[in-house]
Amino acid sequence: MARMVRLAQFVSPLMAGLFFWQGAMAAPTVPPVSYGVGADTFHPVTEQHGMVASVDATATQVGVDILKQGGNAVDAAVAVGYALAVTHPQAGNLGGGGFMLIRTAAGHTTAIDFREMAPTRASRDMFLDAQGNADSKKSLTSPLASGVPGTVAGFALANKEYGTLPLRQLIAPAIKLARDGIVVNESLANDLQVYGKEVLLSHPNSKAIFYKADGTPYLRGEKLVQRNLAHSLELIAQRGPDAFYKGPIADQIAKEMAAHGGLIDQADLASYKAVERKPVSGSYRGYEVYSMPPPSSGGIHIVQILNILENFDLAKMGFGSADAMQVMAEAEKYAYADRSEYLGDPDFIQVPTSALTSKAYAKSLAQQIDLNKARPSTDIKPGKLAPYESNQTTHFSVVDGQGNAVAVTYTLNTNFGSGIVAGDSGILMNNEMDDFSAKPGTPNVYGLVGGEANAVQPYKRPLSSMSPTIVVKDGKTWLVTGSPGGSRIITTVLQMIVNSIDFGMNVAEASAAPRFHHQWLPDQLRVEKGFSPDTLKLLTMKGQHVKVLPAMGSTQSIMVGPDGTLYGASDPRTIDDLTAGY
Ligand code: GLY
Repeated sequence: MARMVRLAQFVSPLMAGLFFWQGAMAAPTVPPVSYGVGADTFHPVTEQHGMVASVDATATQVGVDILKQGGNAVDAAVAVGYALAVTHPQAGNLGGGGFMLIRTAAGHTTAIDFREMAPTRASRDMFLDAQGNADSKKSLTSPLASGVPGTVAGFALANKEYGTLPLRQLIAPAIKLARDGIVVNESLANDLQVYGKEVLLSHPNSKAIFYKADGTPYLRGEKLVQRNLAHSLELIAQRGPDAFYKGPIADQIAKEMAAHGGLIDQADLASYKAVERKPVSGSYRGYEVYSMPPPSSGGIHIVQILNILENFDLAKMGFGSADAMQVMAEAEKYAYADRSEYLGDPDFIQVPTSALTSKAYAKSLAQQIDLNKARPSTDIKPGKLAPYESNQTTHFSVVDGQGNAVAVTYTLNTNFGSGIVAGDSGILMNNEMDDFSAKPGTPNVYGLVGGEANAVQPYKRPLSSMSPTIVVKDGKTWLVTGSPGGSRIITTVLQMIVNSIDFGMNVAEASAAPRFHHQWLPDQLRVEKGFSPDTLKLLTMKGQHVKVLPAMGSTQSIMVGPDGTLYGASDPRTIDDLTAGY
């Protein structure tokens, strides 16, 4: 209710002028755009005809090959998505879901929602234990953890509506990689060591794929063959998405679920539909910003935070200054507080998108930001601390020579999802049901507190933070970006935009710059290493609870110059990723 009152405040003229507004400004400073020539420290990859940025070098190469074969950016994105299901099983998937944002060369922007859906037998309290507490084992590592997967339907819809090449041509490289084997890279070897033990080892189907006969996981440089996955991919290539939703793969998934207490059945799979939605849009210092609408919270809150920031002269404050970080952290708190109250599946609840993304509401929040004093999160709304954090999901960006642009963020949720491979399909199942509010008011795996709007309901899609985003300058695609990172996706993408626009960084510098994040609850300003100790001291004096924690995000971004030259950068925080083109 407190949120409701606050959201309503912006319409009240009485509120104007009630706050001493230190950030008020006349004309903001906006530095010239940098594309990364000259004396910059980090330099983007530069190409002319097409570019792919993804977390995996092999998958990037698959996308570049499709572009060279005459495919457009949507074709290349679908091929990359299928390839990642083989090469990056931590998050690449057929058994998960996600979002695709497309901007065509003609300037049409659209969003494809292929988020997982709760099965028909799902119920509000299904993740509570006997004492009525949220049981994260059920929502993360049991067969109940999986929503009905959306990836195969989403890629088919994108291919049908916006692609140019036949789907089977886009799946062919993934089939070859699964059948002939991939050389395990450092990233996969590390994640099998660290996370595999927790989630894969206890499931015989999964162990048989990712572990060797001697019971140890595959190591860097060893060959990983995924014959069952190759067969599933062949079925989809031959029969289209029906093979997955109505055919032999649906049978494998339903059988696996029935045998071990999961809920997804054949009817759930047959009823799944990817949905084309209107992106959330906003403006920021003369740029147009397009991002993912609900059931993602990403687009709304990126636009909301940018609207608040527009009331401050960040460029003048300077990158890494305590003032700029204070303003951004405070703005983030308000946005994440609203997220917990208002966001959910738009097919089930009324999400107040226009109100949340209005400039007037943002101004009313900006007026409450004190440059010298952090507002305690408990003053905004009480909550609990997060015990655990994860950083999975994956993003890739593609731009082709015609000027079509695609940003895709998709996931199994946490690394390797639930860890359960469905029967003989070779397909890892997601644990996306954890993104629902198991018990409204209790944090999920990312420490995010959700409300009634995001409670479990049959056929509902869980709230997400995934934020594939496209920024447009002078009517043309300018920046294509996105990131994994759970709750930190929103602030990571936000910082890509602010670093590029307010701080004049080229795309490689914007990707490399240290990041920070506040999500309202816990009341903690999470910072990466790399900020000045003086800045951190000043922030602490302002009342921020600063904590230096591991790196956040793995952006894969492409910027387009005024003459169409492509400038791309993979996040230096990630190993084995690649931005390439021709
Ligand atoms: N599973 C993380 C997200 O969708 O935000």
